[in-house]
Amino acid sequence: MKLLVFAASHRPESFNRKLAAAAANYIRSKSVDVDFAEYAEFDMPLFKDNHEKPEATFTFAKRASAADGIIISSPEYNWSYPGSLKNIIDWTSRINPNPIKAKTVLLMSASTGARGGILGIDHLKTPFEALQTHLFNRVFPLGNCQQAFDENNTLIPKQRDMLHSILDDYVTFTGKLSNI
Ligand SMILES: Cc1cc2nc3c(=O)[nH]c(=O)nc-3n(C[C@H](O)[C@H](O)[C@H](O)COP(=O)(O)O)c2cc1C
Repeated sequence: MKLLVFAASHRPESFNRKLAAAAANYIRSKSVDVDFAEYAEFDMPLFKDNHEKPEATFTFAKRASAADGIIISSPEYNWSYPGSLKNIIDWTSRINPNPIKAKTVLLMSASTGARGGILGIDHLKTPFEALQTHLFNRVFPLGNCQQAFDENNTLIPKQRDMLHSILDDYVTFTGKLSNI
């Protein structure tokens, strides 16, 4: 099994990147092949219909297509998810055949707010439904994320146990759908 993992933040100290890295480390320990992407690798100009697709669209499509599933940790911006992520989804949706069709998707969010970016996660489900992915029915909203990592960027035990439980279930789900 191979999973593409990335955080939808360009900040060097991004909490979502820390969360994505924690998820990647855990599933690697379960013998899952992980493709950990930096968000900058998927940086694309604003979508314009009838314009040539930027190279990063094909980079994302190729890496998503080579994976059985995609794990995204996205910040919540103004009760939704970042426009840059919608931009990636929109460019990708113009590739035929659809490179993310039938991929499983696990959504996570690290947020400095108490709700853990759950509204952003909820909004993010919609375009992935439109693109016919298999959204996993558990999500991981990490609230007050500035208090959730220790000095080694390790998640505090309560949050770590919840993350591991979700990842275990997600890997099982992906394995069943991908016949692995
Ligand atoms: C433009 C913008 C909008 C934000 N809106 C929200 C919000 O609606 N809810 C929330 O919990 N946090 C919000 N935040 C705070 C983010 O949770 C916080 O900046 C977080 O660290 C971003 O994720 P990152 O560390 O991975 O970059 C917002 C931050 C920015 C920059």
